[in-house]
Formats: sequence, C-alpha cells, structure tokens
Amino acid sequence: MAAAATPKQIAPTTDDLKAKVADKLFNPFYSPPGDDDGNETYQYAEFKPFSPNISWEPLTDVEVTERGLFADPSKRSLYGAAKNIDHLTPAIGTEIEGVDLRQLTDVQKDELALLVAERGVVFFRDQEIDIHQQLDLARYFGPLHKHATTPIPRNGLEEVHVVYNDASRRPDPSAFSKLELWHSDVSYELQPPSITSLKVITGPEVGGDTLWSSGYALYSSLSPGLQTYLEGLTAVHSAVAQADGNRAAGLPVRRQEIETTHPLVRVHPATQWKSVYVNPGFTRRIVGVPKAESDAILAFLFRQISENPDHQVRFKWRPNSIAFWDNRIVTHSATFDFWPATRHALRATPHGEKPTSVKEYELTTGKQAKDRQLEIWKQQGVEVQTKEVNGSANVRGYND
Ligand code: SIN
Repeated sequence: MAAAATPKQIAPTTDDLKAKVADKLFNPFYSPPGDDDGNETYQYAEFKPFSPNISWEPLTDVEVTERGLFADPSKRSLYGAAKNIDHLTPAIGTEIEGVDLRQLTDVQKDELALLVAERGVVFFRDQEIDIHQQLDLARYFGPLHKHATTPIPRNGLEEVHVVYNDASRRPDPSAFSKLELWHSDVSYELQPPSITSLKVITGPEVGGDTLWSSGYALYSSLSPGLQTYLEGLTAVHSAVAQADGNRAAGLPVRRQEIETTHPLVRVHPATQWKSVYVNPGFTRRIVGVPKAESDAILAFLFRQISENPDHQVRFKWRPNSIAFWDNRIVTHSATFDFWPATRHALRATPHGEKPTSVKEYELTTGKQAKDRQLEIWKQQGVEVQTKEVNGSANVRGYND
C-alpha cells in the first residue's frame, strides 16, 4: 500500500516566528511596507522594499503606441510557439504554456498585447525573465510609470513596484474591507497603466492568490438603458488615500497626489470593446449627479466587480509565475491570507493612453464602439434579439 502523502509545510514554525514577528498591523492596500524581517541572507534581498525620500515632478503627457493594433488577430506566431493555450473562464483569463518570455519577437509581443486586451489577463509559469528584461518588455508597450508611494527595490530601480509582505507585518482586518482591495492600478493618473506585468519571485505554498474582474463583462451584463446612461458619465479617481496611507506609515510621498476625472465607460483602442472603468480602490464619485445617486451607482458597480464570479478569474501563483493584465479593462485584488509566510513580487507598469469615452472614440476614429459579449455571440453565430430583461420570459438563476 502506498504511504499516505504528507502535506507540505505551508508556514514557518512557531520558533521561527517568535524571532521574527514584530506586532505591526496594517492595511495592505494603502500602507506599503517600510521595513521587513531583516533577513539579509534572503536570495532576493536586493529587491526588498525601499522607500527613498526623493521628490518627482508631476507627470505630463506621454506618447503611447497601441501595440495590439499591429497584431495578427489569429495570433499565429504567439500561439505557434506555445505548447498549450488554456482559456480559464469565458470572460477573462488565459494561461499559456511553453513560451519563454525572454525569446519573444516583436510580432509575438504585438500578439501578446492583443491577447491581453481581449482576455484581460494572461498567465505564464516557470519564467526565467529577470526584472531588467521584464522592464524592457513593458517598455515595448508604453513609457514606464514610476509609483509615487509604493516601494521600489533596494537596488534603486525606480520603475519597479515592489510587492512584499513577510512575517513582520500582519494585515489588520479591522483596517480595511476586502471590497476596497479591488482596484485598477493608479487609475488616478492622467494616463493610467495599460499592459502591466507582475512576477512572483517568492510566494507561499498556498494563499496569496490574485483575482481579476473584467470591465467588459461588467458592461455587457448591464441593461441597455444603464449602459447608455453610464456611457455619458465621468468619475473622479483619487490618489489621496494612498498618499495619506504613506504619511501615516511615516513614509515619503514622492509626487504630489492628484485627482483625475475619467470616463465611466472607456473603449479599448485595440478591441473597440467598451469597458466599465471604476474601481473601489480609487474611484470616489461620479461627476454632476446627486451624491446619493453617485454613491448608489458606484456601490452597485463595485459589488458587481467584487462579487460576480462570472466576471472573474483567480490565479494561484508559484515562484516564477508572471501575469500580464490590461489595467484599462480589468480590476484586480490580491488576497492577504498567507501571513506569516513571505510573498514577494515585482511589477512593471507602462502608461496607456488617456481613457477614451465612447463618444470621443466614435468621433475620433469614425468606428463604432462595441459590446464584447454581443461581438462574441455574433462570431459564434448566435442571434441575440434584445438584451432587455422582461420578467418571467427570462430563465432565472437557481441554487441547489
Ligand atoms: C498589484 O496590485 O499590482 C499587486 C497585485 C498582487 O499583489 O497580486
């Protein structure tokens, strides 16, 4: 008879912890790590978080070229190099096996850009790509963003955003709700990020998964009346809470915090698809409507982002896994269920274009912005007469 399998150890022992745990509690979203467990023999010590006290000028307009527009829609070159392509849910998320990201040609990079634009997030495992190569690849998609508040690595690479948690900091559930962890990175910037990559270099055996939610799917799920109403609105995105979180933690704010108004529905330049563009982390209010209406609509959209599993994908990382997501059309949320283990990841973040409303997109391109779900059904030959909901004629959900 085969011996029973022993579960892998998933956390440090109590003795390890006694030495390490400083009783510091924190809100993981608005308070970056200011220090760490002090382990200098750690393999990736040069990438531990560092918050230099320096100041940067406000960001100005940058030129961006949408690489997805140059891609072969069949993605023949990227798919041809892959061993396996797995679409993880109908709405969002694809995992590609067998491609070494260090070897991508420009044709394959363009196809990756289009795939990320279509699928929201694309995953690769066992990638040896180092942070310099990850930054070069990100730079192919757009000029790199430097974060005003989150840590950079000790080695001084200012364009890298360090995600780091270890036993020395325990997330305080009384300091934050799970809802507010959902965000689209730095959406308060004038040109918020496009194809963002995160590589996990150290992670727990279990826990620390990340979830993504599709803004295209959220848009498609709404009634036509609500879609049209939202398309005419803008919302304010704010950096204030993040900057205040740094100050509260005694950490510098490297660039003055800003608030920016963006369209509530934006169009992706490569797909022509419409996406809801709000997130609990940074979107504060809808412009020009009564506060109660703004609060109610944002609360509804935030709950759909965080609660509707049909719009989401969840990824279990392993060291050397890397995700590419398009911050223009997805929101994401990390989990903080792994304390006291260490989770360490490095992010590269290219700027995208200024978010484009449906009206502006149609005026400037002469093309019609589209509903992703309707386009997919059309490709599948499915005829959808109307999306109006009319009571008992519709199939209803059930639980068993
Ligand atoms: C991020 O918000 O960019 C980091 C997500 C994660 O830690 O999984």
